[in-house]
Amino acid sequence: MADSSTRDILVTSALPYANGSLHLGHLLEMVQTDMWVRFQKSRGHRCHYVCADDAHGTAIMLTAEKLGITPEEQIKRVQAEHEKDTAGFLIGFDNYYSTHSPENRAWSEEIYRRLRANGHIATRAITQAFDPEKELFLADRFIKGTCPKCKTPDQYGDNCEACGATYTPADLIDPVSALSGATPVDRESEHYFFTLPAFSDMLKEWTGSGTLQPQIANKLREWLDAGLQEWDISRDAPYFGFEIPDAPGKYFYVWLDAPIGYMASFQNYCERAGLDFDSYWQKNSQAELYHFIGKDIINFHGLFWPAMLHSAGLRTPTAIYAHGFLTVNGTKMSKSRGTFIKASTYLEHLDAEYLRYYFAAKLSASVDDIDLNLEDFVQRVNADVVGKVVNIASRCAGFLRKGFDNTLTPNCAEPELVQSFIEAGQDIAALYEGREFNKAIREIVALADRANQYIDEKKPWVLAKEEGSEAEVHAVCSVGINLFRVLMTYLKPVLPAMAEKSEAFLNHSLDWTALEAPLCDHRLEKFKPLITRIDPKQIEAMVEASREQAPATAEAAAKTAASSPQPAAEPAGEEDNTIAFEDFAKVDLRVAEIVAADHVEGADKLLRLTLSLGDGQRQVFAGIKAAYAPENLVGKLTVMVANLAPRKMRFGVSEGMVLAAGPGGKDIFLLEPHAGARPGMQVK
Ligand code: 2FM
Ligand code: ZN
Repeated sequence: MADSSTRDILVTSALPYANGSLHLGHLLEMVQTDMWVRFQKSRGHRCHYVCADDAHGTAIMLTAEKLGITPEEQIKRVQAEHEKDTAGFLIGFDNYYSTHSPENRAWSEEIYRRLRANGHIATRAITQAFDPEKELFLADRFIKGTCPKCKTPDQYGDNCEACGATYTPADLIDPVSALSGATPVDRESEHYFFTLPAFSDMLKEWTGSGTLQPQIANKLREWLDAGLQEWDISRDAPYFGFEIPDAPGKYFYVWLDAPIGYMASFQNYCERAGLDFDSYWQKNSQAELYHFIGKDIINFHGLFWPAMLHSAGLRTPTAIYAHGFLTVNGTKMSKSRGTFIKASTYLEHLDAEYLRYYFAAKLSASVDDIDLNLEDFVQRVNADVVGKVVNIASRCAGFLRKGFDNTLTPNCAEPELVQSFIEAGQDIAALYEGREFNKAIREIVALADRANQYIDEKKPWVLAKEEGSEAEVHAVCSVGINLFRVLMTYLKPVLPAMAEKSEAFLNHSLDWTALEAPLCDHRLEKFKPLITRIDPKQIEAMVEASREQAPATAEAAAKTAASSPQPAAEPAGEEDNTIAFEDFAKVDLRVAEIVAADHVEGADKLLRLTLSLGDGQRQVFAGIKAAYAPENLVGKLTVMVANLAPRKMRFGVSEGMVLAAGPGGKDIFLLEPHAGARPGMQVK
């Protein structure tokens, strides 16, 4: 199908930072985008899917520095890892590139020049926190200090993890640079701004055009009504990025060149594929442009990006498709619970298509969060994919091979039934088009139920034993295979590998645009298992492998502290039990005096310790009741982790951890520093 109704569509998913491994949250978005793209392609449209690594910014520069490599080496390593992971999840990018590319530099400079020529760039001096030791300006997240509200030490510059207060770094008590520990100083420098308020009317029109999801349009409308601010698009050296033309020492802020990276990746692809780049990006282009993103980055895609494109005389996106966050078992992904699952860890234990199916079964066009409930995941994949869809083919294949030379009947015995399956494709296509994947899956599973019901009613396994019923067995199984063929065609965007195996078995390509007639007098290939059931043990193993090896108990902490400083930083993406030296170095070990120790009502193992650090007291709950009577603890010195984030427990907040060693129970020995130590002293 390549007629006038064939659409030209360019699709992107958000560019992952070249600073860490992909996790299942990234995959939610990529799978969603990939399914939509595969659907468009299967309908005969010219649809292109590009992505890239988001390679610039301070964080990447600092990671490379820590690892003792260049930023270029760092982004190369991470890109290779990202490409491996996404291939594992069958994400069919037409191009996967990097924002640190010549095309992106050229387009960033070009767009900037156009904005400047249109009077949309302003400059003025601003004052910011500066690290005098590292000699760089500090973004809020690189400043730490004591929370002005609850006085918890070691909180980041913009919010307190303990009490949830939000503030600016200037409000922190005793602020320090998280990079060097130095006290930041105020320093002034010239910054470049994009005059976003000039686009207020243009953005009101664009967001009201009806193509955005209602929740997104509302959010954008709120921001627009509140009034827009100019957007700071420059960062001072040292910065890993592109230098701004005619502004030595000033770099484009990573968020300026990141979305331009969509264009750069596509341009790089066009050169290879012989496509006309301009026809996709020029003003009034007839091509469609869609950005799939998470709901946390709507401002960049719904305000800054369309405004920049507009000023630069380029087309604006047809729509932004935002999705919600991924939760696992109902809560935020957690390293300690083992639910912060990296893409590579998942792939070591499970088939990518299980997750693709589950995401499809949950995703809708809304921005609601999606929960990966691991029990439901096993149950649903096993019941639907294996128990319903594959079951249709496996039930029929054996009879056809044994009795009928693996060939379907010359005529279809149930043309109406098969036809109704083909006609259901209209609605299913509309649901895919509207990203209502969950509803599409519901329709497909309902069809699978009907197909199984048909086979159950006909009972070919009973007929096969009856003399003279061969023709009926042949007819029923041929209908079954035809129904399977239609279902797998609809599932192909979700389960591309299983579809490919089905194509090999059916000896026929599963083409949505060629479903008109049933397969008759058609020879099949040998049936091979298409997918196996998930064993819950695989899930357990994946969760165990994902569990952060943070010491869960005081004893474990002591063992870790004593035995595993790692001399070299670990390469990104490595999955092992060790922690990097940098991580270990973050642990602030202090001598503490136990000034009070009390029983905790209702707790079998815990004692409430009041610890003095010289300049203040902390409350810590320690699981050492079996080993120590409270009265024997008072006055002792011990070693504590002083910068552990406070943890709310059933009995109160625990503000640290005391270190002990031993197998547990009665044999737990507090680490006691030598005489001469005083509370508050750092433990080296
Ligand atoms: O939030 C992020 O992970 C960004 N790296 C997304 C960039 S999307 C686009 F604008 F490039
Ligand atoms: Zn606080």
